[in-house]
Amino acid sequence: MKLAKCMSRLGTETAFEVLARARALEAQGREVVHLEIGEPDFDTPKHIIEAACKALHSGYTHYTPSAGIPELRKAIAEEMSRTRGIPVEMDNVVVTPGAKPIMFYVILALAEPGDEVIYPNPGFPIYESMINFTGATAVPIPLREEYQFAFDLDEFKKLVTKRTKLIIINSPHNPTGGILNKETLDEIAKIAMERDITVLADEIYDRIPYEGTFHSITSIPGMQERTIILNGFSKTYAMTGWRLGYGVMPKDFAVHIARLMTNSNSCTNAATQMAGVAALKGPQDDVAKMVAAFKERRDVIVKGLNQIPGVSCILPKGAFYAFPNIKGTGMKSKALEEYLLNEAGVACLSGTSFGVYGEGYLRLSYANSIANINKALGWMDAAIRKLRK
Ligand SMILES: Cc1ncc(COP(=O)(O)O)c(C=O)c1O
Repeated sequence: MKLAKCMSRLGTETAFEVLARARALEAQGREVVHLEIGEPDFDTPKHIIEAACKALHSGYTHYTPSAGIPELRKAIAEEMSRTRGIPVEMDNVVVTPGAKPIMFYVILALAEPGDEVIYPNPGFPIYESMINFTGATAVPIPLREEYQFAFDLDEFKKLVTKRTKLIIINSPHNPTGGILNKETLDEIAKIAMERDITVLADEIYDRIPYEGTFHSITSIPGMQERTIILNGFSKTYAMTGWRLGYGVMPKDFAVHIARLMTNSNSCTNAATQMAGVAALKGPQDDVAKMVAAFKERRDVIVKGLNQIPGVSCILPKGAFYAFPNIKGTGMKSKALEEYLLNEAGVACLSGTSFGVYGEGYLRLSYANSIANINKALGWMDAAIRKLRK
């Protein structure tokens, strides 16, 4: 089959490839600690599961409107208004199967050849993949350790041109755990408004900050009109497998995103949407417990990583990833990722899985038990010490 040219520009998410390699090793009887996949190891809270079962039994087995069930869109609008201090109505919200389609649709709807899109690098790999897919130019903003993996604003300003159509931000950030502070968001907002640029704000980890506070760029006056918030239930409510996410955007733009839904998925699973209503309206103590557990694990993994020779790790401020600097091991990121999987039985991701500026780093997801994290740290330590002999 002769593929369309755009297919050669589509990237991937290597987490799933490393997972497959780790599973193959396990099938041969090897023990592997999984620190590669970015998903909470907790079960979805019971009341959410029950709401979905109830929905199925009461007839939520049909198509829904493409943009989502009004009850869920309203619940999301209320939540976004309350937490961002902005007026959000149901018509600003499009519900999708997971949050990823928002990324896909928004980039598809806005970017075309001749446009430039600024995106964080290292960053979620699908940003770059989708920008390239559309034929627009992907312009990386390097996130450097010396800036706590936030934007170097001088560098950022130099990247903005008259062709810049879209700026993608992600805070708290995957893979570094960095958070963009209010001053940085103010600067990005100022430039976006002056230059008439749209912003895609990936806020999927908004409920998982440990240090500092989460700020949404949409709370800055004038920004709601030019920003699409990407958010969802996967991380906050441990619902990765349910596939439930959403975008919040200007109403006239939401019509186009809903049309992309009609052209692809038709709608999001009906019972899953009702589970989303229960998640937003029900008790939030499971979220608080999960975040407290992540914080404890973060402290364990960061301390342990800093004791491994050749490895150093700054404290991630949010999400559930550690992004240690491994330059002192003398190995490249990808080679170390492979070595650790094969030699130590620790599945993690090379920093370069998140773009070229991830060279010299690894990403370890600490959404795993403290016992497993300690086991992985011990195995990594032994394997890396062996390298130095
Ligand atoms: C930064 C970021 N955005 C979006 C997503 C996609 O979330 P979902 O599983 O809801 O599609 C992820 C998932 O790993 C992520 O890390």
